[in-house]
Amino acid sequence: MSHEDRIRLPALRSRITTAEAAAEWIRDGMVVGMSGFTRAGDAKAVPLALAARARREPMKITLMTGASLGGDVDRQLTEAGAISRRMPFQVDTVLRQAINRGEVMFIDHHLSETVEMLRTRQIPPIDIAIIEAVAITETGALVPTTSIGNSASFAILADKVIVEINTSQSPALEGLHDIFIPKHRPQREPMPLVAPHDRIGTSAIEIPPEKILGIVITDKADSTSTVLPADAETAAIAAHLVAFFEREVAQGRLTERLLPLQAGIGTVANAVMSGLGAGPFEHLTMYSEVLQDSTFDLFDAGKLDFASGSSITLSPAKARQVFGDLDRYKDRLVLRPQEVSNHPEIIRRLGIIALNTALEADIYGNVNSTHVLGTHMMNGIGGSGDFARNAYLSIFATKSVAKQGAVSSIAPMVSHVDHAPQDVDILVTEVGLADLRGLAPRERAAAIIANCAAEPYRGMLQDYHARAVATCGGHTPHRLEEAFSWHVRYRDTGTMRPD
Ligand code: COA
Repeated sequence: MSHEDRIRLPALRSRITTAEAAAEWIRDGMVVGMSGFTRAGDAKAVPLALAARARREPMKITLMTGASLGGDVDRQLTEAGAISRRMPFQVDTVLRQAINRGEVMFIDHHLSETVEMLRTRQIPPIDIAIIEAVAITETGALVPTTSIGNSASFAILADKVIVEINTSQSPALEGLHDIFIPKHRPQREPMPLVAPHDRIGTSAIEIPPEKILGIVITDKADSTSTVLPADAETAAIAAHLVAFFEREVAQGRLTERLLPLQAGIGTVANAVMSGLGAGPFEHLTMYSEVLQDSTFDLFDAGKLDFASGSSITLSPAKARQVFGDLDRYKDRLVLRPQEVSNHPEIIRRLGIIALNTALEADIYGNVNSTHVLGTHMMNGIGGSGDFARNAYLSIFATKSVAKQGAVSSIAPMVSHVDHAPQDVDILVTEVGLADLRGLAPRERAAAIIANCAAEPYRGMLQDYHARAVATCGGHTPHRLEEAFSWHVRYRDTGTMRPD
């Protein structure tokens, strides 16, 4: 495909430039919005040229994206000292360390909310958006690549836009996207989406062509996903969930189609979703955020009818299979802006079954998805809060222990709360599943300890809870002097085990 086919508005072809020249347009102190969501569809060439420039010529920007970036962009910009503020999500080790040293101010948003805050000028406006596109249409609209994330609103709200036309991205991606932008309040109307396959918007991001400052041609491929394959624990978690769903079907609360599924990021959620393929469920649908390998495993198993997401992030082998033959899947897929994929109104309307992952949960079902030992940021809350709060059924999964058993993922009290007990209906580990619906805190504690914790921690939790009930009482009994003693022991000795 030639540049003419990729840039179909002839007047824009003279704006082709180099990444280095485009990076010069970004000035110290600017707010830059980049495409990219879970390593998919991210701007690649200009950000790396910007990092190279910042190494020579110190400068700092506020960087907003959809979610995490691939291609080393966060690492290189961090190493160049170019990021002062970062939102709303990241997964990069070097950036994470800079955040935890207090050098980068990280703002951890619910992913549905960032562009609402921009639209209403509650956070500083975007000066320049850098958006990866498959093509620019005859009218100057941008056709996104493997993610939409926040790209559409970034491009619409920014003063100027730099487009990266990525020739490694399949032209077959055109037509996959459904871009709906809510109106400003008080003119806001309901989102007219009543099924995962509904299309309510346009297939490209419509912006005035004169906003396009320059176009950079690149062929850098998306970074592939880093999730690990299923293992015995994730298979056991999936088996517990399959058995749970079978009971729900037997009791008439769900049918064998279940309800639209959402799966969070990471190894555990991906492996568990793939494991659902072993169940007796048919004609499943997904209304999710990131579509991982498991989505395509379920398509290939003939279990999944349709998947709606905001990005597609795959392992190298799966990426070759899916993007090499996108037409096979295209009519069963749609990508949406993250404020639509994660919109509370739609999640509640569709009755989503949400599956997200915890770093740790406590005996009452508070969930920590973000902060190691209550202080150190891991990735961010992502969309887990958007889904958990509004889902028909909010499930959190975690392995019962981390760090070769030195850490119990079920603690007396979580060291940081992302998800309150009201947002946690089901907690599942490889040990078992706790159905917390309709239970009061003391009952939740009994169910979580018995079903989710592994020895020796299960016995230790039973002992803790019994003493909390006996000595402190209350609606949610705790021994405050002891509640974080497991975390303190891990910090000081490297293990939560008592000796
Ligand atoms: N204390 C300390 N470290 C812990 C821990 C705990 N309680 N529980 C897990 N970890 C560590 C693991 O050891 C592992 O470390 P490693 O990378 O050094 O091996 C790491 O955290 C990831 O854990 P893992 O069990 O492999 O889970 P995962 O890959 O499924 O990721 C989250 C789990 C919580 C980090 C991830 O799902 C996340 O960032 N969630 C928040 C955002 C979100 O849910 N987005 C989706 C919404 S659509």
